[in-house]
Amino acid sequence: MKWDRKYLLSIDDLSVEDIYEIFQTAKSMKEIIKRPIKKVPTLRGKNVCLLFYEPSTRTRMSFENACKFLSIDTISFSRETSSLKKGETFLDTLLNIEKMGVDLFVIRHSSSGILHYIRKFINSKIVNGGDGTNEHPTQALLDGFTILENKNRIESLKITIVGDILHSRVARSNIRLFKKLGAYIVLCGPPTLLPKEFENMGVEISYNLKEAIDNADVIYVLRLQLERQSSNFFPTVREYNELFGIKKDILKYAKKDVIIMHPGPMNRGVEIDSDVADSNYSLILNQVENGVAIRMSILYYMLV
Ligand code: CP
Repeated sequence: MKWDRKYLLSIDDLSVEDIYEIFQTAKSMKEIIKRPIKKVPTLRGKNVCLLFYEPSTRTRMSFENACKFLSIDTISFSRETSSLKKGETFLDTLLNIEKMGVDLFVIRHSSSGILHYIRKFINSKIVNGGDGTNEHPTQALLDGFTILENKNRIESLKITIVGDILHSRVARSNIRLFKKLGAYIVLCGPPTLLPKEFENMGVEISYNLKEAIDNADVIYVLRLQLERQSSNFFPTVREYNELFGIKKDILKYAKKDVIIMHPGPMNRGVEIDSDVADSNYSLILNQVENGVAIRMSILYYMLV
């Protein structure tokens, strides 16, 4: 499906050309962010609602700053102080807020696929800020942009995604984006958090960390999502760290110029050790910086 610029719910909404266009515009947006006065009038008069039903630091605040830098007005929704507490449904909440003059919603919700349902009832534009375990397309775009900046290509890179794949919307969006752009993808984690069905996405699966990161250009580490786990997927967090935690000494199996990425928030000492997260291999804070530029680029295409 061609991106109609009304919705960005999935990486599948975007063609390869769309993705590179978003990256190209994000480059220009980075220039704006570096200026002493980080504001352009491009989207003055537009209104965006940041509707986060789940906690967020990076996605929510980077969208908020992206809006400010483009002169977009924002309204924010707080679950705790809203009429949800009085029993109002998610759809009714959206329909009411839409009538207040909102051009675009950025929505994070715990239910996978819910945005595909509500899009039928809402006329405003919608960007997926992360839906359950389904997708987080703007995260994948900022990750792809960060890799391109550092490796000058994505095609034919070996990207190893390590960790809690089962519960990860970031993994699902990143697999789609990296594959679209021609990377070779290996997934690694304990079998309980990495079902064989992921092979249907055209990736290699490995349960051995050393083999998985052998000759890797990129190691993408995922957070262990303990809040989404209703049963015990591994004996102890310590054992998980021993077998699948990214430590300095394991990096010798990867390429010399390997880069380490993580979408945040990190569990230091669980999926990644601090001496890796804070090392020169790490692009974790570059990802956050690029998140603002990528979200400015997306808002530009959807609202101009
Ligand atoms: N990467 C990411 O989505 O972080 P937040 O949950 O803080 O938005």
